[in-house]
Amino acid sequence: MKFEIATINELKKVAQTIAGILQAGDVLSLRGDLGAGKTTFVQAIAKAMGIHERVTSPTFSLVNYYEGTPPLWHLDLYRLEAPEELEDIGYEDYFYPENAITFIEWAEKADYYLPDDVYEIDIIHEENTRAMTIDPRLARRMP
Ligand SMILES: Nc1ncnc2c1ncn2[C@@H]1O[C@H](COP(=O)(O)OP(=O)(O)OP(=O)(O)O)[C@@H](O)[C@H]1O
Ligand SMILES: [Mg+2]
Repeated sequence: MKFEIATINELKKVAQTIAGILQAGDVLSLRGDLGAGKTTFVQAIAKAMGIHERVTSPTFSLVNYYEGTPPLWHLDLYRLEAPEELEDIGYEDYFYPENAITFIEWAEKADYYLPDDVYEIDIIHEENTRAMTIDPRLARRMP
């Protein structure tokens, strides 16, 4: 399933649709070039889920946590130098979230630590729009 997002208002609508089908335990990989809009998408999802706290890029912290129903983990692994560093920052908590949802930017950096069951969301920044493709296994949940 593919969405074309041309405005922040359209992003808001898409985020509401996707937030509506997410479940605790979901792990999502956001794929897209630098500046594609991965962090902005997580901000929109958090808002749609009723999280009022300001969502910022975890480029330096690698991982942020937001209290909510369910809570959100937001990772940006761009600066991860070796997958083993995940051991130091408690990867089980967010790669196998029982009662939370996890979003990961630059998930490929986690390599073999990444769980098998990850949903892909691809964002491509085109001239006037962002094209967002949702993992078909997730899209199947849409009513
Ligand atoms: N749907 C959108 N509509 C308009 N502007 C957007 C949209 N998504 C992102 N932007 C803008 O694009 C810029 C980069 O977005 P963002 O930081 O979310 O990208 P990113 O993919 O997380 O980048 P990085 O790889 O550096 O983490 C920001 O200025 C943001 O406001
Ligand atoms: Mg980002």
